[in-house]
Amino acid sequence: MEVVTKIEEVRAAVSGAREAGRSVGFVATMGALHEGHLSLIRRSVADTGFTVVSNYVNPTQFGPGEDFEEYPRTLEADNAACEQAGVGLVYVPLTEELYPTGHATWVEVAGLSEAFEGKARPRHLRGVATVVTKLLNIVRPDRAYFGRKDAQQLTVIRRLVRDLCLPVEIVAMPTVRDADGLAFSSRNRRLSAEERRDALCLVQALRLAEHLVNAGETEVPALFDRMHGVIDPVAAAEIDYIAAVDPDTFLRKDHVDGPTLIVLAVAVGSIRLIDNCLVGRGAEQGGEA
Ligand code: PAJ
Repeated sequence: MEVVTKIEEVRAAVSGAREAGRSVGFVATMGALHEGHLSLIRRSVADTGFTVVSNYVNPTQFGPGEDFEEYPRTLEADNAACEQAGVGLVYVPLTEELYPTGHATWVEVAGLSEAFEGKARPRHLRGVATVVTKLLNIVRPDRAYFGRKDAQQLTVIRRLVRDLCLPVEIVAMPTVRDADGLAFSSRNRRLSAEERRDALCLVQALRLAEHLVNAGETEVPALFDRMHGVIDPVAAAEIDYIAAVDPDTFLRKDHVDGPTLIVLAVAVGSIRLIDNCLVGRGAEQGGEA
């Protein structure tokens, strides 16, 4: 496995793989790799001949006062995990190459980027869309793997790939959870033991919603009442939003009629966590979509 930092080194390694007749898979990460990332990486290694993993804490997707500085950085352990998983190339971008002096071009998915995560974190999704576009242009993979855990991010990326005619297949991967149900997230390592237990209210609320929909409930306000009943008693948990949305447009829905994403963001102490589940007819949290 090679670890490189320069765009031209990525291009050379990917060209070499293509000349050897291998297809190219790509997983974009901010490092601090956990089982969620590894599920994407393993899938890419299984599906394609050459897997590229990027490891970059992208400054433009963090707002002022967010956790850019505190974001965990564990490059050595990440590289070891990539090597073990069969990754061909790790790309650790240089900020001066991704954002050269005078950088002025942004990718903004209008509408989709403004609600929910976009409202709570202005410019966050613009930063994500811009860096993902750059990374896809640098690596030029056949397939790129993204997690459903970050549902709005996934929808934004699908939309920009379509709108900008990028020649890549986006593969959506199911959310990987710890044994107790908490979705793996790099931010989990900053939860205290007590906050870690409190954080389970997210998945408990989502599972209750799933159960109610399966039992025939289709009214979204009724679902939210019950979800609040799970989260509100947890003193350390503060709901930012709970919403039912169309998975393709992120427009709000009042009824569960067909595939519906229930998304939520909850701060547990000082750590903001997001999670979601897909409910409704045809809801499948399967491998690809
Ligand atoms: P990061 O949070 O490191 O996540 C990298 C990829 O792993 C994303 O596609 C994310 O959805 C996926 N992922 C994270 N936790 C997961 C889990 N528990 N189960 C399944 N997949 C999971 O998302 C980003 O980085 C950045 O915004 C990035 C796309 C790299 C752009 O900077």
